[in-house]
Amino acid sequence: MRIGICGAGTVASGVVSILQDSKGLEARLGSSAIQIAAMASRRASDNPVFAGIPFELDVFAMPSRADIDVIVELIGGIDDALRLVKAALSEGKSVVTANKALLAHHGAELMALAQSQGVSLLFEAAVCGGIPIIKALNESFVGNNVRGIAGIINGTTNFILTKMAEPGANASFETVLSEAQRLGYAEADPTFDIGGMDAAHKLAIMAALAFDEPLQIDQVFTEGIQEIDGEDLKWAERLGYRVKHLGIALADDTSLEMRVHPALVPDQSQLASIQGVTNAVNVLARPVGETLFTGPGAGAGPTGSSVVSDLFDLARGAPTRPPQSLSEDRGSRKAKSMLETKSGWMVRLSVRDRPGMMSQVGSILADHGLSIDQIQQRDAPDGTTTVVMILDSAVERDFQASLTALKSHPDVMPGARAIRVFDPESIG
Ligand SMILES: NC(=O)c1ccc[n+]([C@@H]2O[C@H](COP(=O)([O-])OP(=O)(O)OC[C@H]3O[C@@H](n4cnc5c(N)ncnc54)[C@H](OP(=O)(O)O)[C@@H]3O)[C@@H](O)[C@H]2O)c1
Repeated sequence: MRIGICGAGTVASGVVSILQDSKGLEARLGSSAIQIAAMASRRASDNPVFAGIPFELDVFAMPSRADIDVIVELIGGIDDALRLVKAALSEGKSVVTANKALLAHHGAELMALAQSQGVSLLFEAAVCGGIPIIKALNESFVGNNVRGIAGIINGTTNFILTKMAEPGANASFETVLSEAQRLGYAEADPTFDIGGMDAAHKLAIMAALAFDEPLQIDQVFTEGIQEIDGEDLKWAERLGYRVKHLGIALADDTSLEMRVHPALVPDQSQLASIQGVTNAVNVLARPVGETLFTGPGAGAGPTGSSVVSDLFDLARGAPTRPPQSLSEDRGSRKAKSMLETKSGWMVRLSVRDRPGMMSQVGSILADHGLSIDQIQQRDAPDGTTTVVMILDSAVERDFQASLTALKSHPDVMPGARAIRVFDPESIG
């Protein structure tokens, strides 16, 4: 099988290194071994890993080449990648891609084109780098009813939150972000990662496969970690939790909710132990129960490993995932609005130290049907008291109404904060 690799960056270097080193792969594939016919990128690369491979400067010339059977799209972005992948599929060539943004926005259209052309569009590398979660959702859980997915699916945000929570660390969000950029864990423009869009792309793809529903990136509620401060992390720890940036997709027979936001997870949960740039996806399904997939979510080696796994499937002629997955005409569940979803909450308020103040806070919450699971207070030298509460799970609409009421109380100081709580065990 002859492949053409488009893009000459991080992931391309991982793929080429693996293919050049992988004698085991050749032995397993025999005559159908994977050969790199050519590479293309918009400028020449001096990366020694690519030495000796025929190199073109026009990626769009690759799909029509007669000496290429499969296109590997590793240029990233949306517009040019869409044009390239469409051209390849239209030429009757299978495509392997690592591009989550492209799939989240155009997956249905591209999958339909692949199907009509009788070729494959494979994308293991697009979600959580080296973790084989796409294959697991498509194939391994086929005998199950998947109820939920909850994961740490962006390494940059997990690195930042882990560093900010280290004992003795008083580093601000901005300081840790600069460190992440220096170490190569965050892009020069980190907006997509810290704002949650990258996680939203991955969640939309996983949810479509897990629940056999259409891809619906526009239905993913997306909140980043920009507003989290060191005090939030300290209070969460005192109350028995860790703050993580989660992608959560939950389904019942009639509805589907997809959300990406920071959340407290119980200290004892598996997700709480995931540190640094590591990714983890918790899949909750019946009858299998709870399974956790964890590993490196990015980088040349891990992402290259997933691209090569797709190439291996194509080369050995393995039947690939159901061709319908990601198509528009799947599923029947209604997307839930965020206001209808349920979460627990950690609320932090600074209140004037007045007699009866706590009972007033309690009755505002009770008026909205909310109950307090834990509460801690600390007096400040300026005559105010910091009150931090964990609230039991409640409908978002009720919680937001109670927060508005609390904020408008004359003895509640400006700057009240709230972070959702998510307990993976709450999904059955
Ligand atoms: N890096 C990871 O760990 C990782 C993990 C999972 C998925 N992915 C996905 O994998 C894909 C590639 O990521 P990467 O990290 O390898 O990116 P990268 O290091 O920036 O490499 C992209 C390569 O494609 C070239 N390129 C970009 N736009 C092009 C265009 N319009 N026409 C021609 N060539 C173009 C770039 O050229 P220049 O050098 O001139 O820009 C570069 O050689 C992305 O979709 C990304 O989301 C990456």
